[in-house]
Amino acid sequence: MKRVALLISGGGSNMLALVRDMAGDHPARPVLVASNDPAAAGLGKAAALGIPVAAVDHRVFGKDRAAFEAALLEPIAACAPDIICLAGFMRVLSPDFVGRFKGRMLNIHPSLLPKYPGLHTHARALAAGDAEAGCTVHEVTADLDAGPILGQARVPVLAGDDEARLAERVLAMEHRLYPAVLRRFASGNRTPVFL
Ligand code: GAR
Repeated sequence: MKRVALLISGGGSNMLALVRDMAGDHPARPVLVASNDPAAAGLGKAAALGIPVAAVDHRVFGKDRAAFEAALLEPIAACAPDIICLAGFMRVLSPDFVGRFKGRMLNIHPSLLPKYPGLHTHARALAAGDAEAGCTVHEVTADLDAGPILGQARVPVLAGDDEARLAERVLAMEHRLYPAVLRRFASGNRTPVFL
């Protein structure tokens, strides 16, 4: 059974989708939900499900990213995860941190990578007049939002879409895609999932 640590920054809907899927014959189980924000709503939701939680407030460390990451690493190392899932985790991690989990850290990003790495993905897709949007699960490497793609799901951009409506449609697909990718990945299969 693979051990999974999940990192969140906010509501944690992707975290919940993953946690709910990790039951029964699933090859993995959640061992930790950690956040850089002690107020992240997802922490309470994870704790209510009986999952150990940890908060390491990045603001305490100012610009000292190495000190933040050292503190974040403590609860993670203590639960000895096989896989790390970034699930709405909004801090950029250093090459050193990423390197510790080479080939076993995943992220979900709300665009059809390589299009629109970084922030404001939906606004950028709308501004470009794209006919399709979507989400991508990828392996995390030192380059932001650029690691090998493990899954992608597409949704149409509809007439009258604004950022919020498009985000909602993409998020619904995130909740299907990420569990499908993790299930496959945890069983040792890195073949991309396309929805
Ligand atoms: C999701 O849309 C996720 O793809 C995005 O933040 C949202 C988190 O929602 N992640 C990023 O933008 C990563 N750079 P959630 O907390 O409800 O899962």
